[in-house]
Parts: sequence; C-alpha cells; structure tokens
Amino acid sequence: MIEVLILSFSLTGLVIGVILVAARGKAMLFFTDFGETMKSLWSNRQPLGWIFCCVLLTAGFLFFFYLWPNIGIGAAQPIAFSHRLHAGHKAIACDYCHPYAGRSIHPGMPPVEKCLHCHNYIIANHPEIRKEHDYFNSQTPTPWVKVYYMAEHVVFNHQRHIKKEIACETCHGQVKQMDRLKGQRFKMGFCVQCHRQNEANADCWLACHS
Ligand code: HEC
Ligand code: HEC
Ligand code: HEC
Ligand code: HEC
Repeated sequence: MIEVLILSFSLTGLVIGVILVAARGKAMLFFTDFGETMKSLWSNRQPLGWIFCCVLLTAGFLFFFYLWPNIGIGAAQPIAFSHRLHAGHKAIACDYCHPYAGRSIHPGMPPVEKCLHCHNYIIANHPEIRKEHDYFNSQTPTPWVKVYYMAEHVVFNHQRHIKKEIACETCHGQVKQMDRLKGQRFKMGFCVQCHRQNEANADCWLACHS
C-alpha cells in the first residue's frame, strides 16, 4: 500500500516538475494553452485528438486495473500456491510442509510428493495441479522462487529461534493471510533489536557473522 502511495506521489511530482520546467515558470499559461489545444482538437474532431485521448485512457485503464493491484504483492511462483488457502483456510500446520524448521538450520520446502498426497484426490485435474504431476514425473524439484533474504555471510539458525517459541509470524509476517508471499530482505537492525531485547547473544562475530 505504502509503495503505491509513494509511487503515485513521486509520479505526480515528476509530472508537475516537468511541466513547470517546460513552462519556465508560466505554469498556468501551460495549463490554459493545453486546455485550449485539447478543446480545439476535440471540437474540430481531428483524429490526432481522438488518438491522444484513447492512448491516455488506455494507459490509465492499464495502470489502475493491472499495474496498481500488482504493486506490493509477492513474486509469481511456478505453481500458483497460496498460503492463505492452505495455511489459513485449510489450517494446515506450517510444520506439515516445513518440517525441519524446528529441527535443523533449513526449514525445507515441501517436495511435490507431499502436495500430491492431497492433490491426487483434491482437484486433481486443475491446470496448476497438472504442473505438479509434470514436476513429479520428470523428477525436477519445483523451482520455487526464494523471497526471504539475508546477507550471505550471516549465519541464521531456525532451530534456535523456534525452540525459544518465537512465532514464524514474528519474522515472516502474516503468512496465513498472503496468497503470494511478499518476502523481505532482513536487515541487521531487525536481528540485533530483538537480540538486545531478549538478551540473546548480540556478539557480532560469535553469534551471526562467520
Ligand atoms: C493437506 C492437503 C493439501 C496439501 C498437502 C496441499 N494442498 Fe493444495 N489444496 C488443498 C485444498 C483442500 C485445496 C482447495 C481445493 C478447492 O478449491 O476445492 C487446494 C488448492 C490448491 C490449488 C488451487 C488454488 C486455486 O486457486 O484454486 C493449488 C494450485 C494448490 N492447492 C497447490 C498445492 C501445492 C503446490 C502443494 C504442495 C506444496 C499443495 N497444494 C499441498 C489441499 C492441500
Ligand atoms: C501445504 C504446504 C504449506 C504450508 C501448510 C505452509 N507452507 Fe510455506 N511454503 C510452501 C511452498 C510450496 C512454498 C514455496 C512457494 C511460495 O513461496 O509461496 C513456501 C514458502 C514459504 C516461505 C518462503 C521461503 C522463501 O522462499 O524465502 C516461508 C517463509 C513460509 N513458506 C512460511 C510458512 C509458514 C510460517 C507457514 C504456516 C503459517 C507455512 N509456510 C505453511 C508450502 C507450505
Ligand atoms: C527469528 C526470525 C525467524 C523466525 C522466527 C522464523 N524464520 Fe523462517 N527465515 C528467517 C530468515 C532470516 C530466513 C532467510 C534465511 C536464509 O536466507 O538463509 C528464513 C527463511 C525461511 C524459509 C526459506 C528457507 C529456504 O530454504 O529458502 C522458510 C520455508 C521459512 N523460513 C519458514 C519458517 C517457518 C515455518 C517458521 C516457523 C516455524 C519460521 N520460518 C520462523 C527468519 C525466521
Ligand atoms: C524475535 C526475536 C529475534 C529475532 C528477530 C532474531 N533473533 Fe536470533 N535469537 C533470538 C533468541 C531469543 C536467541 C537465543 C536462543 C537461545 O538461547 O538458544 C537467538 C539466537 C540466535 C543465534 C545463536 C546465537 C548463539 O548464542 O550462538 C543466532 C546465530 C541468531 N539468533 C541469529 C539471528 C539472525 C541472523 C537474525 C536476523 C535475521 C535473528 N537472529 C533474528 C531472538 C531473535
């Protein structure tokens, strides 16, 4: 949401700036001139005016109906998997699909076999589920797009955090309400702030950097 606002404001600002520069301070003149030109084009029924209006309307339409809703949602995944549906509505535990979060450094992505435990029976012929079969039959791991990042030299261990009963949502946000995960790049401040509050190890080299 905030990105949309920032984008809209900066676009508007840019347009106004360009107009002001182009009009060299006589901004009002620019607008009245522009209005007059448009009016005469319109009233003379000149094709140029019509084309201009059509282009403007199309651009506006595309922006509001296609671009706008897409700003701020997560990356497209190879299969249109939704956490909101599976973890939210169907209340499947995170643990079922990411079983190693509490037991090892890597939480793990569910292999496609696991999806097929259900989807051999549920909506088995849905086009997105057919993709699962393709991955399964060709023995290719699903190329899920990674969305949560950290700087490469940082050591992060899920197990240590889960053991302390820190909820997944503390770091990953309201996953259960997202269709596509929006993800984020974790900054050091985020880690350090909580480590300070919880009196966890905040020693740079011993704890996180190696
Ligand atoms: C525990 C059972 C279960 C598992 C495991 C499961 N799903 Fe589903 N999935 C469902 C149910 C239930 C639906 C809803 C079906 C419906 O709409 O009738 C669904 C729907 C879907 C849909 C269709 C969504 C839509 O927009 O209609 C996709 C795609 C999907 N699942 C992908 C996956 C993938 C990929 C995995 C493995 C990571 C997976 N599912 C694992 C139960 C499961
Ligand atoms: C039915 C299986 C299923 C369940 C249940 C599930 N996930 Fe996932 N999860 C996936 C799949 C498939 C992906 C990869 C596709 C994607 O990112 O949407 C994924 C990706 C993720 C990622 C992104 C990792 C990255 O690539 O950076 C996080 C974080 C995550 N899940 C957290 C959770 C949490 C928290 C819950 C419980 C609220 C949960 N998941 C429940 C299947 C599941
Ligand atoms: C203290 C913060 C924190 C908590 C709590 C947390 N995660 Fe993560 N998670 C991260 C970070 C940081 C990464 C990125 C790690 C990386 O890039 O190596 C990540 C990555 C992931 C990934 C992607 C792993 C991959 O191989 O790409 C999954 C899946 C995931 N988390 C699931 C979960 C689940 C499920 C829970 C709850 C049981 C959980 N996380 C709790 C911080 C957290
Ligand atoms: C919500 C709070 C919270 C956040 C956010 C958090 N941590 Fe932690 N972390 C903890 C707690 C509490 C411990 C202590 C666990 C223990 O004592 O076993 C810990 C322990 C660790 C340890 C083990 C330290 C040791 O003593 O060896 C590492 C490494 C670590 N965290 C890295 C990270 C990184 C990297 C991030 C940011 C991506 C992060 N943590 C974000 C709460 C947090």
